[in-house]
Order: sequence, then structure tokens, then C-alpha cells
Amino acid sequence: MSSLKNKSLSNQTCLLRVDFNIENGELRDYQRGAKQIPWRIKRILPTIRFLTERGARMVILSHRGRPKKASGVKHQASSHSLKPFVKILSKLLKRPVRFVNFARGTDDVPKLTPILKTSSVVLLENLRFYPAEEKNGKKFAKKLAGWGDFYVNDAFSVSHRKSASVSAITKFLPSYAGLSLENELKNLDKVMKKPKKPLIIILGGAKISDKIGVIKNFLKNVKGQKSKVNCILTGGGVANTFFAAQKLPIGKSLCEKKVIRAASNLLTSGANKLLLPADTVVYQKKILDIGAKTIETYVGIIKKAGTVIWSGPMGYIENPKFANGSKAIAEAIIKSRAFAVVGGGETASIFQAANSKFQIPRLHRRFGGQANSKHIFTSTGGGAMLEFLSGKKLPGIIALDKSKKMLQRS
Ligand code: 3PG
Ligand code: MG
Repeated sequence: MSSLKNKSLSNQTCLLRVDFNIENGELRDYQRGAKQIPWRIKRILPTIRFLTERGARMVILSHRGRPKKASGVKHQASSHSLKPFVKILSKLLKRPVRFVNFARGTDDVPKLTPILKTSSVVLLENLRFYPAEEKNGKKFAKKLAGWGDFYVNDAFSVSHRKSASVSAITKFLPSYAGLSLENELKNLDKVMKKPKKPLIIILGGAKISDKIGVIKNFLKNVKGQKSKVNCILTGGGVANTFFAAQKLPIGKSLCEKKVIRAASNLLTSGANKLLLPADTVVYQKKILDIGAKTIETYVGIIKKAGTVIWSGPMGYIENPKFANGSKAIAEAIIKSRAFAVVGGGETASIFQAANSKFQIPRLHRRFGGQANSKHIFTSTGGGAMLEFLSGKKLPGIIALDKSKKMLQRS
């Protein structure tokens, strides 16, 4: 967006793609008076201010949830609508926000020109109600593009989806990266390209399948150099799947059976870098947290780290009884001098006190409860962050790069 800094944008309409896919609980708490702004909303406010200060009008585009997969029309209507965001946005922006609804299940976009004459901020209903959105429909993208003069993607967390409002739309309008997206790329590049050593990666959470790419990418030898990662600490379902790959009994613990073979291959190729828990907390035949010895080892390693990447809790943090491992890791990161990137909805939420599953006193004292300090970056991306760290080029970022080249040529 730096190229827009010195331009007057008055009478220009921006199509701004954001990600309002926010946990229902976080949204509800805020609606009921909780002070902390849901963090995905908070992150895009600077971009909106940037645009309004320069006189631009805007149409805000977002998805919410996965309406196609949800069953029942009633369910679709309540938990997937973006309507509740109108009140929130108008309060935060101190200006009226006009909501535009449309006929679901068609790709006929409504006429916005008359509305834009009187409203400077318009919020469109959940884009995923349009069938063409998730199919990256070109005709549909062109219709959306017809509303504006330029496009800004400030939704890093959905940039791994080849959707019309993320990818195809950039073919029809000059396109830019929003401030929050720029910041995401800057921080993720830092840990990928020049991580201060030792680089420690912590992987937990229910699934290992979406983390295999990250492990492979960081174990890879680049031009004869030794692998970039010094140590990968595992917990949660990720560790369980490794245990299963070693043919250890895991009872009824979470485990991804489909990828046991892949996990076994990783154990062979990355044996000396992959650390599995030495002890665990078991309840009703399920491994629900890492044990005390493991906590001690992991914390010791994090203390000496130069860089930390963390995705996925160490246990079943929904129950505070099984949150000790994740809490200790979070505290160790906060205390350390390492630069840390933390992502994946649940893991990031640990650092956002408003919806944190547990309280970390140091977090409150040092960062006022919302850690995005110089040394901890909480990525808004879950899947997007993991794909980026796997070395994949995200469709949304490719689209912006192409558009940039076109703009430079013209
Ligand atoms: C997310 O929350 O991860 C993003 O909003 C993307 O949502 P999706 O996984 O449903 O595409
Ligand atoms: Mg996701």
C-alpha cells in the first residue's frame, strides 16, 4: 500500500477483502461488552483508516465460516451472516456502515452505485453465499470488480484459498496488499529467510497432516547447508501420530491414522531434530497434555532459542487441567529473548487475553493482554500460515504479485 501513500483517493472506491471469520464465542463476548476488540477486526483497522483518511469509499468483502458445509438453512442464516459486523464496524469507525444483502445461491451481485453515492463504507454479506466465490469464478469476480476503482487484500488468513475475492478479482483491478497482510509477510519472511539461531519449531494441535509440509520444508538442506531448524518440539495430536508411527500404544488418543506412514518417514529423515514428549498426562485412556519432565525439557530449549515458531497447543486446552504444557510454553516464549511467530487460531488465542483459555499474568503486565509485541508476532493465519511456512506460494499472494508487475509495466 506504500504506493498509495501519496495519492488522493477521494471519490475512489476500494474493494477491501478482509477476514471476519471470527470465533463465535469471541464475537459474542465483544457484543456483550467485552473490551477487547476481536483481534482479526483489530488488525484491519489501520488499513480502513489509511483508506478513509485519503478520502476513499470502500466496499468491505469477507467470508464467515463454511456455509456450504453447514446443514440447515437456519444455521446458515445466523452463524454465517456478516450482519452483526455492521454495528461493530460503525462503532469502531465512528461512521455509518451500510449492509448489503443479496439473493443467496445465485451469482447475481446487487447494484451498488446508488448506495455508494450516499454511504462511504459498505459491508457486503458473506461472500461464500455466492457459489462462484469458492470456485474462483472469473465472471463473478469481474462483477465484483465493477463496483470499485482498486482492490486491497488485507486478509492473509484466507490468502491460501483460490477464491474469487482473493485471486480472480485481481485480474480486473489494480491490486494492493493491505497493511496487515504486508506485516504478516514481513514477519513470516523473517523466520523463514534469516531466522536468528537456534530456530525452534513447536508443533501441536489435533492434526499433523497440515504440518508435515512445514516439517519437511525446515528439515530440507538448502544448497548444502545444514537444515534450517535446530529442533522441532511436538505435542498434542502431532506427537500422538508420531507415537503411533513408532508403534507405541496410544489408547484412545487423537491420532491421524491416514498419515502414520508419512509420520514414520519424517521420523527417519529428521530423527535427530524431532523431539517427542518423554512423558504425558493421560486421562480415560487419552493423552491430553505433555508431562512435567517434557515441560522442563521444552522450556529449557525455548530459553536458549533465537527464533521460535509455534502452531498448535500441547494438549486439550479447552479444559484448564490439561493446559499446563501450553501455558508453560507460552510463558517460556514470553520470557525468552527469541523472536516468535505464533499462529493457528487456538495457539494465537492463547496470546490474545480476551479469548484466551487461560490467564498468563506476565502477558497482561507486559502487553496489556494482547501480545503483538516486538518479539512476538501472532499471525492471523491458521492454514495460511502453515502453507506459507511449507514454502508454498499462496494464491492470494501470487495474484497480488502479478498485479504489481502489471501496474509497474503500465
Ligand atoms: C480461517 O479462519 O482459517 C480462514 O478464515 C479461512 O477459512 P477456511 O479454512 O474456511 O477457508
Ligand atoms: Mg482454516
